[in-house]
Amino acid sequence: MSTIKIGLLGFGTVGTGVVRNFQRNAVTIEKRLGHKIELAKIVDRDATADRGVTLEPGVVTTDVEEVISNPEIDIVIELFGGYEPAKSFILKAIANGKHIVTANKALMAVHGQEIIAAANQQGVSVMFEAAVAGGIPIISAIKENLCSNEFSSILGILNGTCNFILTKMTEDGSDFAPVLDEAQKLGYAEADPTFDVEGVDTAHKIALLSALCFGTTVDFDQVYTEGISKITSMDINFAEQMGYKIKLLAIGKNYGDQIEVRVHPTMIPNSYQLAEVNGVFNAVRLTGDFVGPTLLYGSGAGMDATASAVMGDVMAITRDKISGAQSRVPIMGYCADQIKALPIKAMS
Ligand code: HSE
Repeated sequence: MSTIKIGLLGFGTVGTGVVRNFQRNAVTIEKRLGHKIELAKIVDRDATADRGVTLEPGVVTTDVEEVISNPEIDIVIELFGGYEPAKSFILKAIANGKHIVTANKALMAVHGQEIIAAANQQGVSVMFEAAVAGGIPIISAIKENLCSNEFSSILGILNGTCNFILTKMTEDGSDFAPVLDEAQKLGYAEADPTFDVEGVDTAHKIALLSALCFGTTVDFDQVYTEGISKITSMDINFAEQMGYKIKLLAIGKNYGDQIEVRVHPTMIPNSYQLAEVNGVFNAVRLTGDFVGPTLLYGSGAGMDATASAVMGDVMAITRDKISGAQSRVPIMGYCADQIKALPIKAMS
């Protein structure tokens, strides 16, 4: 089999991390795969900016067709983010027989079923590990390692920007605005940071995890979503005096005939492990009927951690191609005919 060729859509923070991972660990990646992969094309609106990485001339282009309609490209990594034009590009790439790796939680949370159905029809994979909790392998844990379990609950600190802000406000008494500014400079925040601070990014992530864990579709509009923009130093001080930390918590619960999916600031007792998750770190506590409570913890945002998740998906698809395995299809981890549409319990 010839070299597997990758096309990258988006040469921002995470895209740069992907290039760095490709280049710095090229030998390890090739040894682990026993096969060559090549980052053949990168598309970005700005093809000339200096990102601190050196590439062969002609690799970076402004023309998306050079990736999504290029017969030489096997796998497309989508890092544009947002709904459009990312969705149209992904659907066109799928129609052209490309496998997809995406970090786009907004797109997958709202249009994931449609995208995966299109991929199933074409017999290609759609993988989105980087969409939730940065470098933590939470999606593969649910879909693979823990997949014999019935899950009853998910508790997550899923937004690095919010956790970074709340930690700095707690530890240094910092004000909200300058810490948000710092998180943006560090490349943690979304293009529109209101998605972070108003809880929307976290809601996208818990909607995805709930769909995967509970085998249901999740109507994103029904996810109760409240962010941290109204949290003041006074709230944090009062919570501290009572022995609590304030965290933006994502909650998913399965009651069998209905589910609960919500996001809001929560007072967590200092004795709980989730209260100890600080800075840009994320954590997800899953409860499965066989494995019991399981906590996964790691870097939740940023160039390198997110690139690590993207590259894990690229390598998984490459392994499937090399071995001749079928695509990594299942609709959100379940077969299409087993998907239930469980109602979301209203918040009282
Ligand atoms: N803006 C997101 C966060 C990036 O801060 O967690 C990672 O999904």
